[in-house]
Amino acid sequence: MSSSNVMETYARLPVAFASGEGAVLVDTQGRQYLDAVAGVAVCGLGHAHPAVTEAVCDQAGRLVHTSNLYGIPLQEEVAAELARISGLERVFFANSGAEANEAAIKLARRFGHEKGIERPEIVVMQGSFHGRTLATLTATGNRKVQAGFEPLLPGFKRVPYDDLEAVERVGSESTVAVLVEPIQGEGGVVVPDPGYLAGLRRICDERGWLLMLDEVQTGMGRTGAWMAFQHSGIRPDVVTLAKALGNGVPVGAALATAEAAAVLGPGSHATTFGGNPLAMAAARAVIGTIEAEGLVERAAETGEYLMDRLRETVGARPEAREIRGRGLMIGIEMEADLSELVPRALEHGLLINVTAGTVIRLLPPLVLTREQADRIVEGLSYLLGEAL
Ligand SMILES: Cc1ncc(COP(=O)(O)O)c(C=O)c1O
Repeated sequence: MSSSNVMETYARLPVAFASGEGAVLVDTQGRQYLDAVAGVAVCGLGHAHPAVTEAVCDQAGRLVHTSNLYGIPLQEEVAAELARISGLERVFFANSGAEANEAAIKLARRFGHEKGIERPEIVVMQGSFHGRTLATLTATGNRKVQAGFEPLLPGFKRVPYDDLEAVERVGSESTVAVLVEPIQGEGGVVVPDPGYLAGLRRICDERGWLLMLDEVQTGMGRTGAWMAFQHSGIRPDVVTLAKALGNGVPVGAALATAEAAAVLGPGSHATTFGGNPLAMAAARAVIGTIEAEGLVERAAETGEYLMDRLRETVGARPEAREIRGRGLMIGIEMEADLSELVPRALEHGLLINVTAGTVIRLLPPLVLTREQADRIVEGLSYLLGEAL
């Protein structure tokens, strides 16, 4: 049995970091690593970005928390910024992606009850990931996440991802919403057909359902747009964000159109910490910095460059099945055993992630330089050459 007092819910790699700057992390022994994970799509601005550090330090010196019993002017400011960049007018602030999705699920159920639907159902996807709370793990399309935590919640209907007909077929009198990732992250960086979101929008409009997008991983510039749905020219009813919104300070948000948000009145949903001044100061700094440094455009450009270079190199290997993604959310699907790749990359000074068993997932900070992108390509080429 381990001597650690921390519950053993994580299989951790044998490294701990002491500091970082941009896309570089330094471990407790002083060794440097190039970070192509960014805290799982969290540190979009890179590590220790001075704008976030300054905002958090300044706010911590004045006021950290007061609760949602009182007005929080910074919440108003961040909500206005989120409304501006997303086109959705209302925001509920939470502390994580799972919580943001819980808020969305509750909103959808309320929406159903207001229409007289007693047992509302939400359409969710195979291969999806929405979090580890009971409602969000029920919505998640991965048995490993659910196993041992039954009974799961009622009120979810699952269909294959990127299959519009399946959504039409599964719909019933009780359906109230579709919850979907614009690109599946944990599921293996699965990019749907370019018409998929527009197709879902059409179905939802025809049937009076809410279209709810989980942008926890894809949001805040990662795919080369503020939100991934903006590539499709549609307007969803609900969008959830977390991860990169605070660059590491825990903050989540459920955004909704004014019409959809109207079903959640005073007393209907709440959280103690959500949207506290510290988290809001971080989120305000993140949005301002993404804009000031042009990081949405940069993610698009660096992502295209990285994807092209990966296709020329890693993509030419016989085991490479597909290189896909958008912006700086890139998946490299391999027909090979990748179980040793992550620890070997770590030894080599490169942080990468493998998801869905066969997909190398790259989620570097949006501030990644071309030179660092080249180093990711060279590192991966070398490691795959050695390993396979
Ligand atoms: C698409 C998506 N939704 C929800 C979550 C859950 O977020 P959190 O771990 O902050 O609860 C994640 C986390 O990986 C995610 O990728």
